[in-house]
Amino acid sequence: MSDAAQRLYDETYENYRQFVNPPLARVMKLSGSPVEVRARGCTIWDQNGKAYLDFAGGYGVFTLGHSHPAVVAAVKAQLELMSLSGKTMFNVMLGRVSRRLAELAPGDLQISFFANSGAEAVEGAVKLARVATKRAKIVGTHDAYHGKTLGALSISGREYFKSEYRPLLSDVAHVPYGDATGLDEVLRDAAAFVVEPVQGEGGVNVPPLGYLRAVRDACDRTGALFIADEVQTGLGRCGMLFGCDRDGVVPDVMTLAKGLSGGVIPVGAFIARPSVWHAAYGKHPVMHTSTFGGSEIACAAALAAMEVLVADGLVENARVRGEQLLAGARALGEKYPGVVREARGLGLLVGVELTSEGYGGWIIPEMVKHGVTAAWTLNMQRVIRLEPPLVVTAEEIDRALAALEAGLATAYEKLGPL
Ligand SMILES: Cc1ncc(COP(=O)(O)O)c(C=O)c1O
Repeated sequence: MSDAAQRLYDETYENYRQFVNPPLARVMKLSGSPVEVRARGCTIWDQNGKAYLDFAGGYGVFTLGHSHPAVVAAVKAQLELMSLSGKTMFNVMLGRVSRRLAELAPGDLQISFFANSGAEAVEGAVKLARVATKRAKIVGTHDAYHGKTLGALSISGREYFKSEYRPLLSDVAHVPYGDATGLDEVLRDAAAFVVEPVQGEGGVNVPPLGYLRAVRDACDRTGALFIADEVQTGLGRCGMLFGCDRDGVVPDVMTLAKGLSGGVIPVGAFIARPSVWHAAYGKHPVMHTSTFGGSEIACAAALAAMEVLVADGLVENARVRGEQLLAGARALGEKYPGVVREARGLGLLVGVELTSEGYGGWIIPEMVKHGVTAAWTLNMQRVIRLEPPLVVTAEEIDRALAALEAGLATAYEKLGPL
């Protein structure tokens, strides 16, 4: 490492240790994490100029890759005009991005609210459902992940993230994911059922075909609203525009974030059917607001990102490359059955479930050594996610699979059967 690179590493590590997160600093140092310095497309460069294929993908943020030039140009142009909204006048970019999202979203999903993160989008959707239905109960699924604000956390599944914060929202129930049996009973007095089309952080769990259709039907029968949390699955990630498209269903409310602004500006949103939105806020325009939400720069980024997604055929690329990645991961699973229990996924959201959590501590650092990033899923540490940008090429997938193989081989060599 050059002196300058070493200084940058030492400075960043010391700042993390003292001012950011001391235990995280230690873990990252032990696992050999470098410092990220710049990024473009599927690649991040560290302090030494070493390149890494980004298969952790910011947990699904970089659908267009890092710093897509069209999005960066749109943001730069907007910065010259104005960056954040003054709030008292009409915001042309907010109008345009909301219209474009309604054009892309399924069915009659039409009215959007723009916020700054996935959790905020979920909070907004749940609040909307409570007001629209005049019911309080919210139903979520086991192992779900909806964010770490108190409301979103209440609906999430993993106890580790929740137990220290109780009491959380009351009137929340959880049901098994992927199984619609008995849904009517639990939804009968509920405002909403919040569900991911594929559980990302829960360990990349793909439900049986027809599950979302059954959810739609149960919601129709009971009057509970169907909130599809597409923060991770939406906008092409699963090889289709939205995860709900797999069953051809239209939810009452859809949440989005992650890839929405093309990985350049933080943004989240929910989009609702007009009937639902009007039932809640038809006479209350400022019940749910956000100072930063809907800022001109975020809207400009999101608008440009949606254009690139469509114009560059990235949804189709995600489907084709996703099949390649999953087939490759499955082949490695057959080659290393002692380490891999199952590889599964949809589009470019792929999870490799290990036979034991312990292997991950060798696999991920080994992949990093081979120039590929990967990450655990937040609610299921046995599952390593592979979530590259949708612009990924066949050759990059092959390189990532080679790094994964090196990781699997090393883990088994070091730890043996667990
Ligand atoms: C499905 C889903 N919903 C909500 C969130 C929360 O998003 P954020 O971390 O931006 O608050 C996530 C984040 O991983 C997610 O995967």
